[in-house]
Amino acid sequence: MSHALDPNLRRALGERMRYYHELGIYDFYRREPSISESVESAPAAVEAEPQMPSQPELREEMPIRKSAVVAADVEENIFEVSAPKPEQRAADPSAALKIIREDLGDCTRCKLHKQGRKQIVFGVGNSSAELMFVGEGPGADEDTQGEPFVGRAGQLLNNMIKAMGLRREEVYIANVVKCRPPGNRTPERDECDTCSPFLMRQIAVIKPKVVVALGAVAAKNLLAINAPMAELRGRFYDFMPAGVRSNDPSWQGAKLAVTYHPAFLLRDPRQKGEAWKDLQMVMKHLGLRAPKPA
Ligand code: URA
Repeated sequence: MSHALDPNLRRALGERMRYYHELGIYDFYRREPSISESVESAPAAVEAEPQMPSQPELREEMPIRKSAVVAADVEENIFEVSAPKPEQRAADPSAALKIIREDLGDCTRCKLHKQGRKQIVFGVGNSSAELMFVGEGPGADEDTQGEPFVGRAGQLLNNMIKAMGLRREEVYIANVVKCRPPGNRTPERDECDTCSPFLMRQIAVIKPKVVVALGAVAAKNLLAINAPMAELRGRFYDFMPAGVRSNDPSWQGAKLAVTYHPAFLLRDPRQKGEAWKDLQMVMKHLGLRAPKPA
């Protein structure tokens, strides 16, 4: 019997965990199945074979239970919709983003607030953008200026946006974490989990057609999967922000593409061609054409 978890179920479980984290619930306990939850009484559709996610990141967080019980619980709860957020009452996306920013406040939710951050770097750009870029976290320049991607990696991202026939002001740019990790280290798991609900809310407000995850940290956090970049790139994923509802029921989520982080491309410019292929896939989906050379 296959041990691979159905991708939709895996995504739903990932969303569920994020939702619990957003509520401040981090500890999960194993509950022994009662007689009424036994395999015999579980719905016939429930597989009796244990189905743990193949990705270590998800596996770490999964409570260990008998599979029939997991699946029965999942069937009851997994598609519950989370509580409405304050921004859903806003008149327009720009006002909604302001509400999310106010909600974030002078954030002290994770340890990054006491590790030398100068300011929170919320996000910048068109609040109704069709295209959104998500990076990892602010660096020194971003921390100083309060805007994502303004340093050397930002210059390259600007060039990438221009090559797609767009201006920086036309897209929206944000990061998985909104505070600079000390020494530009990779944001840690708890920091990403604490901050990403705000990113999810930003995405639900902006309702982009395409989200481009810049680098592995963004990709893994948005998709809740752990795979090498080579496997993550080169295709679209159906993406719905986790733990939040858009106030536009007609928005069916975004397409998500993964490409190399501009900072990586600065270190290894030979990969720029591959990144350009990713961006061309996005351009095709958005009906964009590269500008003619001057
Ligand atoms: N790298 C990122 O991931 N984000 C920024 O904002 C700047 C550099």
